[in-house]
Amino acid sequence: MPNPVIEVEKLVKKYGERVAVNEVSFSVQEGEIFGLLGPNGAGKTTTISILATLLPPDGGKVIIGGYDLAREANKIKPLIGFVPQELALYPTLSAWDNLAFFGRIYGLRGNALKERIATALDMVGLRERAGDAVRTFSGGMKRRLNIAASLLHRPRILFLDEPTVGVDPQSRNFIFEHIERLKAEGMTIIYTTHYMEEAERLCDRVAIMDEGRILALDTPKGLIGLLGGGVIYVGIATEAIEMLLPAVRSLPHVRSASYQGGRLKVETSAARPALLELIELCNARDVPILSLEVLEPNLESVFLHLTGKRLRD
Ligand SMILES: Nc1ncnc2c1ncn2[C@@H]1O[C@H](COP(=O)(O)OP(=O)(O)OP(=O)(O)O)[C@@H](O)[C@H]1O
Ligand SMILES: [Mg+2]
Repeated sequence: MPNPVIEVEKLVKKYGERVAVNEVSFSVQEGEIFGLLGPNGAGKTTTISILATLLPPDGGKVIIGGYDLAREANKIKPLIGFVPQELALYPTLSAWDNLAFFGRIYGLRGNALKERIATALDMVGLRERAGDAVRTFSGGMKRRLNIAASLLHRPRILFLDEPTVGVDPQSRNFIFEHIERLKAEGMTIIYTTHYMEEAERLCDRVAIMDEGRILALDTPKGLIGLLGGGVIYVGIATEAIEMLLPAVRSLPHVRSASYQGGRLKVETSAARPALLELIELCNARDVPILSLEVLEPNLESVFLHLTGKRLRD
């Protein structure tokens, strides 16, 4: 692979007995938007916090920008920006003063600091609200300000931990467009989310994470391709199963079929023609269809396929 800017090998993090990150390995290319997609508790925040040098790992190796996280975290810090899942802002201070506070942490002073703050506020569309106390901001505006804070020192790599949770649709779009602009400028972005449509829209590659492990890693298209043409669940009476299964399996657009949780699970090469074939077959055999669900392939159905669970509970 050309130019990995982040390399993670067999990363492990434990909280007592609980293994939050379990031998996770991946690499991120320069200029890529890399998604970590998984449900609550998957280990996304733990992984991203370790990469952002905020949490020590218990095992494995991380190289960022050519530096080893275990020995050279101080060289990595200036390269990265981090937007935490929990907002880190001072509610009584103005937007400007919040940014000034963060800018000083990054060693910015005087006119350079002022310029960076003004640019950052412009970038997230909050210039007009610069003097207002952050407690008067909407959730989306706070999130945008948090993103501005992470960009003050012009990092090469940006970590965003669920940046659209609790955000109004307008701010959400603004955040998407902003991330796309940063990518166009060459920034490398690591993005965690449990919204599959965000991962599909934004990410060049996505790692699907659950229970501390990466279950699959590919482009959104590649992951969706795992499912072929989609899955159809057909509810039919238990007595009809044995009679129907062999015929279902030999339908032209059916790849495989099994009986699962009271329903027929049919993996297809193309969902729509397979659906017609299934309905025709059931009619011909006088088997009533009790329920019907078609999962056209998307990242949600890939996740369901890999884990047996839905992304959102
Ligand atoms: N400080 C902590 N102490 C103990 N256990 C923790 C701590 N932080 C996280 N965990 C556990 O580690 C696992 C991974 O948590 P993590 O926050 O990384 O998940 P996540 O994918 O970010 O989830 P979410 O979508 O809810 O933010 C969970 O089982 C969680 O309960
Ligand atoms: Mg999290």
